[in-house]
Amino acid sequence: MIVQFGSARIELVLGDITVQQVDAIANAANAQLAGGGGVDGAIHLAAGPKIMEELQRRYPDGCPTGSAVVTSGGNLPSRYVFHAVGPIWQGGGKKESGLLEAAYQACLSLAEKHTCRTLAFPSISTGVYRYPVDLAAEVALRTVAVKLETSDQLDLVRFVLFDQGTFGSYARVLETMLV
Ligand code: APR
Repeated sequence: MIVQFGSARIELVLGDITVQQVDAIANAANAQLAGGGGVDGAIHLAAGPKIMEELQRRYPDGCPTGSAVVTSGGNLPSRYVFHAVGPIWQGGGKKESGLLEAAYQACLSLAEKHTCRTLAFPSISTGVYRYPVDLAAEVALRTVAVKLETSDQLDLVRFVLFDQGTFGSYARVLETMLV
């Protein structure tokens, strides 16, 4: 599914973010930048040890929730990885939506700073961090769409969704944004 926003596109695909041929991919990291399972584990496995070395050297204090840091792509096809830290879902009353929005915004700012034209996101916070997928999809898609309306830098933002249920949630939300 592809939708035009301003001069750029939002694309939804079912798949694995580690094989995407884009300038940068986002990772769903933790505040310690310590690696983990899920998409974080898959990215470190595919990228090789270089990006963990880079994280430890450049960001020894980690990265606060709602922010992101950049490394090279190691062995990945992409030039950069933006390690974003989404919130842990605690029922919705702990500023989770604002923190999730800020995590996406941090990646979009890094994409501009590093002159990326193409960027891929996983569904940040909806795995181990248990953010409800329908709610997370609204935040993710709205934040990206608002950015694309005013940014000339990005041509494509691709959401790479790992399972059919997550893909369906994002597709439903994106359809509601067309009218
Ligand atoms: N490509 C794309 N998406 C993937 C991949 C992959 N290779 N592997 C998993 N996913 C999906 C999950 O199915 C889920 O939909 O990424 C989404 C986010 O799930 P998590 O990876 O669990 O991320 P999150 O909920 O943000 O939790 C972050 O988990 O792995 C740890 O170190 C990480 O502590 C951090 C926490």
